[in-house]
Amino acid sequence: MTTGERTPKDTPGSKTTREKLEELHRLKEAAMLGGGVKRIEVQHKKGKLTARERIDLLLDPGTFNELDMFVTHRSTDFGLEEQIIPGDGVVTGYGQIDGRLVYVFSQDFTVFGGSLSEAHSEKICKIMDHAMKNGAPVIGLNDSGGARIQEGVVSLGAYADIFLRNTLASGVVPQISAIMGPCAGGAVYSPAITDFIFMVEQTSYMFVTGPNVLKTVTHEDVTFEELGGAMVHNSKSGVAHFSCPGEPDCIRMIRQLMSYIPSNNLEDTPRVTPKDSPTRAEESLNSIIPDNPNKPYDIKTVITYIVDDAEFFEVQEYFATNIVIGFARLNGRSVGIVAQQPGALAGVLDINSSDKAARFVRFCDCFNIPIITFVDVPGFLPGLGQEHNGIIRHGAKLLYAYCEATVPKITVITRKAYGGAYDVMNSKHVRGDLNYAWPTAEIAVMGAEGAVNILFKDELDKAADPELRRKELIAEYTEKFANPYIAAARGYVDEVIEPRFTRAKLITGLEMLKNKRDTNPPKKHGNVPL
Ligand code: HXC
Repeated sequence: MTTGERTPKDTPGSKTTREKLEELHRLKEAAMLGGGVKRIEVQHKKGKLTARERIDLLLDPGTFNELDMFVTHRSTDFGLEEQIIPGDGVVTGYGQIDGRLVYVFSQDFTVFGGSLSEAHSEKICKIMDHAMKNGAPVIGLNDSGGARIQEGVVSLGAYADIFLRNTLASGVVPQISAIMGPCAGGAVYSPAITDFIFMVEQTSYMFVTGPNVLKTVTHEDVTFEELGGAMVHNSKSGVAHFSCPGEPDCIRMIRQLMSYIPSNNLEDTPRVTPKDSPTRAEESLNSIIPDNPNKPYDIKTVITYIVDDAEFFEVQEYFATNIVIGFARLNGRSVGIVAQQPGALAGVLDINSSDKAARFVRFCDCFNIPIITFVDVPGFLPGLGQEHNGIIRHGAKLLYAYCEATVPKITVITRKAYGGAYDVMNSKHVRGDLNYAWPTAEIAVMGAEGAVNILFKDELDKAADPELRRKELIAEYTEKFANPYIAAARGYVDEVIEPRFTRAKLITGLEMLKNKRDTNPPKKHGNVPL
């Protein structure tokens, strides 16, 4: 005040400015302790970090700006009016990862078990709203006993406020969830809507209904880890994308993932200067495909030979291993890679691999990340189980995802591209921009043996030596169709390339496509087969 009037602040008996500063420091110190020293000790004894320690590890040093440190709940039931803890079980704010803005919330298990109250949710929603307006990722570090039981339906509504924002933010800003403790009941659905879920082994779990309920309802007797631990969701359910041995690894991996993705749907991915030469030829690729087409090879070796500095950041490493997805860079630019793994189920497309790849393709398309597809697929997996569980519906997801994607899309057919799977795997017909094939490519409706059995059934039935005739016919069919040249003659394959030059071809292709603009017809949204 410059008028010299007396104000309530400097009336005799009120606090001095210095006292007010001290008060602020005192309040902050109390808030920083969350649920208190004892509960922090319990948290550490479980092998877990506190909410603030996690944020410190996640963000560039000194960049965290906390919001809403003094927010408290407004509940009066069950004696809660006596338990007011500033921050109300979640630390929220913004900071930087490698100099880029991110928003963070980190649930504090030491305060009411990190349970979600109305106020707790409002804090999360506030940073999500900021993230949407300012175009930066949201990273949620989850460690919570779920809905604040004392708040009843208010807490359920508070969850739904977050679910709505997760959905609206989907495809606008990247959303990353780390599960670092319990995540149970309906609470699982916020991470489930986000783009990537990290889980920490032994200390985190996710389930809709816990072991106790299971015991009563279905008489199944399982531990928390068996029901919804990190490896279960990484290898069996496909809910999670990364399994991390400890919290520091988890946080390091989140930072690594961030280096491949843009801050929002309008931005390009961060550019990195590679050590690798863009024209590096990889001689060993010329001999990596075995002469016997039924012998496997490791597609991850192929990928690491091709990408910058042999760095491939695999996503969902343990789930549906017959398809490999992940991020890498080509001449410093991020790309999403989708590739069949011939060493797992011969690289066949099945329900889980279709789901896995479809969601990844859609993520890349949302966030301007070019997609490189390596194809070696004998077809869709036959079987009653696959048919009855909806391989048609799930396979359609991947087809849909490739069809609708408008980012630069380059395909390399290394070996088999058979049947419907040929069409699905970013063929020219679904708007593949550049479709390359190695000379070892086999592009046909089906493999030679199956084709011969159908086409020459009568002839084989009548043949004096059916087995000999079958072999001859298979050899003829293989010679005629198991190559890339029929597709190349139609322009379905743009170029048959020597494998060793694949890196250079991809890099020049991406350079050519860097200003690509393609659109889909205007619509509210498509109806992806779910
Ligand atoms: C209020 C909770 C709480 C909750 C834990 N606490 N969960 N307070 N609401 N949901 C409190 C505990 O009372 C305890 O307080 C402190 O947090 C630590 O909890 P402990 O039980 O001592 O910890 P631990 O032994 O590690 O067990 C963790 C736990 C257990 C397995 C998560 O707390 C638990 O089962 N909590 C209830 C989980 C639950 O059923 N949540 C509702 C799910 S349904 P004190 O003061 O003693 O330290 C749901 C629906 C969401 O979330 C729907 C969204 C649509």
